[in-house]
Amino acid sequence: MSASAFAPGKLILMGEHAVVYGHPALAMAVDRGMTVDLHDRAGPTGLDKQWIDDVRLQDALEAVLPLQGVGVEIQSNLPIGRGMGSSAALAVALAKAELKRRGAPLTYDSINHTAFAVERIFHGNPSGIDHTVSMRGGTVRYQRTDGAPFFEPLSLPPMPIVVIDSGSEGNTSDMVQMVASNRSKLDPYLIQIGQLVDATLPALKTGDWKAVGQAWHENHWLLRGIGVSTPTLDRIVGVAEDAGATGAKLAGAGGGGVVIALAPNPTGILDAAAQNGWDAFPVSCYPAQPPGQTAKRPE
Ligand code: PMV
Repeated sequence: MSASAFAPGKLILMGEHAVVYGHPALAMAVDRGMTVDLHDRAGPTGLDKQWIDDVRLQDALEAVLPLQGVGVEIQSNLPIGRGMGSSAALAVALAKAELKRRGAPLTYDSINHTAFAVERIFHGNPSGIDHTVSMRGGTVRYQRTDGAPFFEPLSLPPMPIVVIDSGSEGNTSDMVQMVASNRSKLDPYLIQIGQLVDATLPALKTGDWKAVGQAWHENHWLLRGIGVSTPTLDRIVGVAEDAGATGAKLAGAGGGGVVIALAPNPTGILDAAAQNGWDAFPVSCYPAQPPGQTAKRPE
């Protein structure tokens, strides 16, 4: 029996780190992601060919698949370990492919249950925002609570986002752990990040990119305040803003990874990134999907 599934990556538009502590955050599924193919094969379950060198990958496969008899192929057009939700996309695509392979129904509950178990292997203490948005698509406002997380799909105008890749990986668990160990000192920043998220929602809904850009700029400097930015990320933000972005911020856990720039006119930012040797590309939103369906990805 063989089965295949796609799941999109994501960008955290605002609110990363604060979301771990119950503050709201916004995330958008993107038009890049992971495809997992599963098929019968003799011997132990595993990858058909070496993919990334990460011991957690075999643990993730073993958490979802039978220990014997399944060959796995993974294809990705997401940068790995850059804050674009590669582990969540893998978790969701793997969960969906295995449910299909077993002939089980694909529901949000069944996908969520398995994908969250995989996210825990990669992250330690994930807020759940990454795999929730990968599973559902679209743009969401997400808030962790003591019970089930509060999740609200948002209807926003298309956002002119350019992703600029710093070229280095961030380690999400290390960054989350570092914030956790300095909680008492960092709480005022986390509270401000959460407040900024909700204060920016009206501008996001009306497409006021000047106001959203200013909020992203502020969000970046708050993330810098909690110690998760790097000199390179700060520099990318400055270069993007000098090149015409209305604002820019690191996206994801930080310590490396990507910057997102709000760029109604992206050419100047793409050129400035190329001059500095940074890979940069526009992204659009991967639309919201019922659990068993895959959208036709935008060309
Ligand atoms: O770097 P990423 O894509 O794994 O994003 C992590 C986002 C955090 O808020 C830092 C952690 C979390 O689980 O929400």
